[in-house]
Amino acid sequence: MSVSDNVDELISRMTLEEKAQFVVGRGVPGFFGNPPSRVPGAAGETRPIERLGIPSVVLADGPAGLRINPRREGDEKTYHATAFPVAIMLASTWNRELLEAVGRAMGEEVREYGVDILLAPAMNIHRNPLCGRNFEYYSEDPLLSGEMAAAFIKGVQSQGVGACVKHFVANNQETNRRIVDTIVSERALREIYLKGFEIAIKKSKPWAVMSAYNKLNGKYCSQNEWLLTKVLREEWGFEGFVMTDWFAGDDPVEQMRAGNDMIMPGKAYQIDSKRKDEVEEIMNAVKEGRLSEEVLDRNVRNILKVLVNSPSFKGYKYSSQPDLEAHAKVAYEAGIEGVVLLKNEGVLPLKEDASIALFGTGQIETIKGGTGSGDTHPRYVISILEGMRERNLKVDEELAEIYTRYVREMREKEEYRIKRGPFGQPIMPRLPQDFLGEDQLKRYAERNDVAIIVISRISGEGYDRKPEKGDFYLSDDEKSLLEKVSKVFHEHGKRVVVLLNIGSPIEVASWRGLVDSILLIWQAGQETGRIVADTIVGKVNPSGKLPTTFPRDYSDVPSWNFPGEPKDDPQRVVYDEGIYVGYRYYDTFGVEPAYEFGFGLSYTTFEYKNLDVKVLNDSIKVSFEVTNTGDFPGKEIAQVYVRAPKGKLDKPFQELKGFHKTRLLKPGETEKVEVEICLRSLASFDGEKWLLEKGEYEVRVGASSRDIRLTGKFTIDKERRYNP
Ligand code: BGC
Repeated sequence: MSVSDNVDELISRMTLEEKAQFVVGRGVPGFFGNPPSRVPGAAGETRPIERLGIPSVVLADGPAGLRINPRREGDEKTYHATAFPVAIMLASTWNRELLEAVGRAMGEEVREYGVDILLAPAMNIHRNPLCGRNFEYYSEDPLLSGEMAAAFIKGVQSQGVGACVKHFVANNQETNRRIVDTIVSERALREIYLKGFEIAIKKSKPWAVMSAYNKLNGKYCSQNEWLLTKVLREEWGFEGFVMTDWFAGDDPVEQMRAGNDMIMPGKAYQIDSKRKDEVEEIMNAVKEGRLSEEVLDRNVRNILKVLVNSPSFKGYKYSSQPDLEAHAKVAYEAGIEGVVLLKNEGVLPLKEDASIALFGTGQIETIKGGTGSGDTHPRYVISILEGMRERNLKVDEELAEIYTRYVREMREKEEYRIKRGPFGQPIMPRLPQDFLGEDQLKRYAERNDVAIIVISRISGEGYDRKPEKGDFYLSDDEKSLLEKVSKVFHEHGKRVVVLLNIGSPIEVASWRGLVDSILLIWQAGQETGRIVADTIVGKVNPSGKLPTTFPRDYSDVPSWNFPGEPKDDPQRVVYDEGIYVGYRYYDTFGVEPAYEFGFGLSYTTFEYKNLDVKVLNDSIKVSFEVTNTGDFPGKEIAQVYVRAPKGKLDKPFQELKGFHKTRLLKPGETEKVEVEICLRSLASFDGEKWLLEKGEYEVRVGASSRDIRLTGKFTIDKERRYNP
């Protein structure tokens, strides 16, 4: 008997109550009298139907690593999972193989800790740099986002467990995320916000999709039939199942009808007295003829078809001992390739014996990732200071001791104590950074070769960042530290490096002139300190590039009405900027960013040559050569942008249509690159169909969106239309 016969047979034996139970989770495991999860710390579980031999399956977060509790009551053993770099950093690698390797490693931890589905990847578009969860998301560009997600999903699912892409769709802010009505044109939706999901779903067939909290053009995503049935299933051919985000929406019956197969975590009435038991509501709706049982059967089938392949259904005996050593290496490799060198005036790489004065409390309180469901509980986090010590770099130990003591003493004071926020997230009041006297600074400048200043930021689920000092802008004390250290070190003929330990862009344009080098280390997970140490001395050459624009100022950001109206309690957010998100806006409207999309320096230089563009039946083939022309081994991320001719539809100045990361090229070495771009992906949505206009297109191959090295042309003779 095939699996699908089996599924139909199972469904035919289920009572109405069992079906209704099956599509609603068990409630938050271990809370409000619910049974504890089989895997403590997991986010949710489906209900078992013992009579039919249907086990429960376990779902756990999240994008930077499996999020489960590291300790269990009355158990000596530990259950740590690897903390990988955050997604924005993974996307900065532009390396599909690496994303697949990260997925494989996470997938093994998922399986070996007894979990069935990982609630990742998260792939909402960076519409605005202040979205509190941008660190969990890949990019402002749907192609990069979709490609990264597709590779990651492939890796996860190669381990026999499922991936769940989220949050479908247009969940681009945290402010009022559960109720806000997101108003987006169909063109912007299809070309920007849905596109990444479409790529990932078609390429890698994730087991599940999580519908988003927000409303989309008037209807909750989880209750939106157009989104979940027409687009996702009928147009894209999605064959997995859809689950809600946790407690999302307000009408379980409408969720069932819309094609939201599963309601998670279930028992919303336990946290909100206005809500009713979803199981009863669904049963009543069927009994009263408001919901056809066929719809319920369809949803049960969608879920069962996937879950019959899960480890829990197969009775897999998990070890609780994933290969954490091997995965630490993967986390390190991924971080190494995600570091982005933003500025470098003759400083980096440092000599291995350079003496370093390390400033900023972030050297000790290094941020490994963001807070909320995207958090992780690794065995350790190597801070920047520890990493440098471990790699035997010559850190000024007296200064390091001063910082260590400062952090310890300040955190003991009431006003700086680390507390828990409304979402359980640690609230770390920012410590004043400018506490060293001028004499001290002078001494460290005299006896060290270089100053390194760490600037850190943390954000997380449930709240957005602020366009204020101490968040998007440097605080006064940070600015003053930068000014003083730069002045004194420069007076002594010494250089200054800034490390940005952040999860989403901050303002850099007003202060970058003060310093000689800026290394964007993002939030690199448990291996952060090692990654930093090895990069600054050139054991590895930074090869990351920005997956998102660093604007010069917040006032330049096109999503000017973020996070919606009314400002103090947004109910609606209108995406007025349409398709002009990120570089699509900055390039088209001539707004200069601080660092553009796709930007990143290297310790070596690359030359591009011999561009060839061929038009095939349904695609174009772009080939060129990249040569390492410097004297350091390195990898280059070559980007292919396409500029459309003037036609009926407005088009952005250019759009990313392909990319390739080279292998490690030795000085003088060349790699021949071939990128195939399907013609359909050049089309724009005209309201009904995808339209590829005729005319002359320009192919722009570059090292960033604004560092175009080669251009070529091709012509489309006849316009083409494609069904959505
Ligand atoms: C988040 C999801 C997460 C879920 C379970 C929700 O609040 O938005 O991303 O997977 O919780 O933890």
